[in-house]
Amino acid sequence: MDILVIGGGGREHAICWALAKSPRVNHIYCAPGNAGIGQLAELVPIQVGEFERLTAFAEEKRVGLVVVGPDDPLADGIVDAFEAKSIPVFGPRKNAAHIEGSKTFMKDLLKKYSIPTAAYEKFDNYEEALKYLQSQPVPIVIKADGLAAGKGVTVAFTREQAEQALQDIMVSKVFGSSGAQVVIEEFMEGQEMSILAFVDGETVCAMPAAQDHKQVFDGDQGPNTGGMGTYSPLPHIDDAIIQEAVETIVKPTAKAMVAEDRPFRGVLFAGLMITPDGKSKAIEFNARFGDPETQVVLPRLKSDLLEVFLAAVNGTLDQIELEWSKQSAVCVVLASPGYPSSYPKGLPITGLDQTGEEALVFHAGTARNEEGEWQTSGGRVLGVVGLGDSIAEAREKAYAAARQIEFEGKHMRTDIAAKALK
Ligand code: AMP
Ligand code: GLY
Repeated sequence: MDILVIGGGGREHAICWALAKSPRVNHIYCAPGNAGIGQLAELVPIQVGEFERLTAFAEEKRVGLVVVGPDDPLADGIVDAFEAKSIPVFGPRKNAAHIEGSKTFMKDLLKKYSIPTAAYEKFDNYEEALKYLQSQPVPIVIKADGLAAGKGVTVAFTREQAEQALQDIMVSKVFGSSGAQVVIEEFMEGQEMSILAFVDGETVCAMPAAQDHKQVFDGDQGPNTGGMGTYSPLPHIDDAIIQEAVETIVKPTAKAMVAEDRPFRGVLFAGLMITPDGKSKAIEFNARFGDPETQVVLPRLKSDLLEVFLAAVNGTLDQIELEWSKQSAVCVVLASPGYPSSYPKGLPITGLDQTGEEALVFHAGTARNEEGEWQTSGGRVLGVVGLGDSIAEAREKAYAAARQIEFEGKHMRTDIAAKALK
């Protein structure tokens, strides 16, 4: 079978890598992909928002399955566009991707179905929002309703920060129409974890839990990024806590989506807070694989990823049993200097051939020049994954390989997975 993967980051590299291991996969196309993905897939120069060109390409090449990586095209209905042409596609329809595309929708859904989440109020009027905000204690959390490239959430520790965030969203409109509504939400203390699950209606196959590191600097300092590193499993968190989160949050949410006539098919990603009493509450839902969660979860999947995708598409996910490796995985992201603000592109990268057999290197933002030399071309450049019998071993392998790779101003956190070692 020939496959078309849509997207061009580290997540899509990991998806292509996992699909390439399937004996049933013949040829992989990736639109637009990146230079690293180009080592195992044929790159197609079509952007993720060009639905007509993408569907025409898939028809022309008679691809057997389309897999969609990023959030924006899902929220805009890319899956509906492929389905309209009867092309098999893995991912949620627009009405289900709304669980990521609108925080007010997501919060109202959880409230309606009594699924644990932080208390909140929503507003579309600035004066009312401000009045409410002024009546609440800090810390408090302010969220733009729509997609904002991971930047729409402010955890405010002072009133000034909170009011500034509200003003940015509703008055200065820094996120455009994504900020037409805001959610003002109770601050939750605790440890975060991510649970991704393959979902087909009410059937939920949870993947092993992972933890991301969102802030750019060590010790969770500095601005939020797309994610600076991940690890899986989480040895310092009881399996019972993870299992309970699946039972009380992920499964009821899938069920609620069916009840709302928005059945979810694809990867449902729950961002969770484990509060001090050991119970989890939902922070957010994404309608797709996480980046860089995927880079540590898929290398641990022993089952054939293509079979899993096809089962979800065909509505037979309840008939398969996923097998996971006991190995640990740690991903360290190498970022451009300046990320997540502005950063240079085109910096030469060396050492990609020095990382040895022990590490996997997933490309997020790389390109090759006319001489075939590697260059940076994005904020997050590479995700270096170590696998081992423990988090400690996986972490050592990831950092050993990450140190072999150089580009001017290379930035990585040095404390990825440190929490799991304590
Ligand atoms: P989100 O984009 O919704 O994942 O939010 C980004 C980050 O903000 C989360 O990963 C949390 O670290 C933090 N956050 C969001 N909501 C809350 C909350 N209610 N309490 C504490 N932290 C939160
Ligand atoms: N790593 C977080 C995300 O993919 O949204």
